[in-house]
Amino acid sequence: MSFMRKIFITGGAGFIGSAFVRLLLAELPDCELTNFDALTYAGNPDNLEELHNERHHFIQGDIADSREVLGALEEGTDVLVNFAAESHVDRSIASAKEFIRTNVLGTQVLLDCARQRGVRRFIQISTDEVMGSLPEDSTAYFVEDSPFAPNSPYAASKAAAEHLVRAAHHTFGLDTVITRCGNNYGPRQFPEKFLPLALSNAMNDQPIPVYGDGRNVRDWIYVDDHCRAILLAMENGRSGGTYNIGARNEQQNIDVVHSLLDTLGKPRSLLSFVQDRPGHDRRYAMDPTLIETELNWRPRETWESGLQKTIHWYQENGRWLERTRSGAYQDYYRQQYGAEIQAT
Ligand code: NAD
Ligand code: DAU
Repeated sequence: MSFMRKIFITGGAGFIGSAFVRLLLAELPDCELTNFDALTYAGNPDNLEELHNERHHFIQGDIADSREVLGALEEGTDVLVNFAAESHVDRSIASAKEFIRTNVLGTQVLLDCARQRGVRRFIQISTDEVMGSLPEDSTAYFVEDSPFAPNSPYAASKAAAEHLVRAAHHTFGLDTVITRCGNNYGPRQFPEKFLPLALSNAMNDQPIPVYGDGRNVRDWIYVDDHCRAILLAMENGRSGGTYNIGARNEQQNIDVVHSLLDTLGKPRSLLSFVQDRPGHDRRYAMDPTLIETELNWRPRETWESGLQKTIHWYQENGRWLERTRSGAYQDYYRQQYGAEIQAT
């Protein structure tokens, strides 16, 4: 008889999911992981390198396909953690279809399959963006019961997913926990997102596209700190509960770029203001008091230490970066930023 805990992770070949897989393998010697991922453009087998561990099983599959999910999800699974999503706001503005399919339909399929297989606990990885935008220069923060006000198709799809999770808890008694986090940064983040895009362009002496006036504020957290918070919520979170996760680290976008350029010793003239994102949320800021007090979570990295680690990783992993920036990425980049601001 096996006493291993069975954990089913979706989206574990992506940025945050692969960091969570690493954390679980290191911290929970009694767990066996199924990593279920469709390997979309954002899912990267390179993220799973060095994870050849007999407790980690990768299965390629689509969360919106119940047959594929049921084929991979075993009876007696202890926890399902749903990271799988279309995650980039700009892509959702260009076309929302895949966001509805994966983020909304896919979440419902997982909830149904979890009930069918008797999964004990369902963790939904959500985002601060479901609560919309905060006023600039205010002391307002997102708390767990801030009203929903999603502004992008991505945020709306993640809000819909939260509603479905809530409904599964309320109607069917499924044991669920929702975690919401702000902007993650760290190793293995796909360079469509602002920080790795700015970092990789700066490393290649290419212009860094900054939307609008560059004064939009994001609340940044190092990816491993986010993952430790999810682990605590998974182990000790209240059934039916929601936890906001944030490192109290608000930064304006231009300051993020300045920090990167200064650390790399690159000129600030690489910063290039471009047309704003439609519907661009002005400010996100999380109040993490609940997870700090109830689950005793604290971030380990400061902004400075996290940024140093991130820059170091990208400098040491040129091959990873080169591969993610080749092929389809070039087409995406041309479409998103136009001819005048090319990455090579
Ligand atoms: P990512 O885009 O790097 O990875 C997403 C992963 O999901 C990829 O591996 C992809 O292949 C997989 N996937 C996509 N569609 C799938 C499908 N239909 N079936 C199975 N797998 C599929 O995303 P990320 O930045 O690691 O984000 C992970 C989760 O965390 C998402 O749910 C996102 O909404 C949430 N989140 C992200 C951030 C952030 O700053 N990146 C912040 C808060 C919450
Ligand atoms: O807040 C959590 C969310 O953070 C997650 O739910 C999303 O999955 C994740 O993508 C992220 O969303 P953002 O829209 O905040 O992240 P992004 O990296 O796209 O942009 C960060 C900020 O930088 C935002 O104000 C827009 C700006 N930006 C972005 C890009 C890609 C630029 O100025 N230039 C750019 O080229």
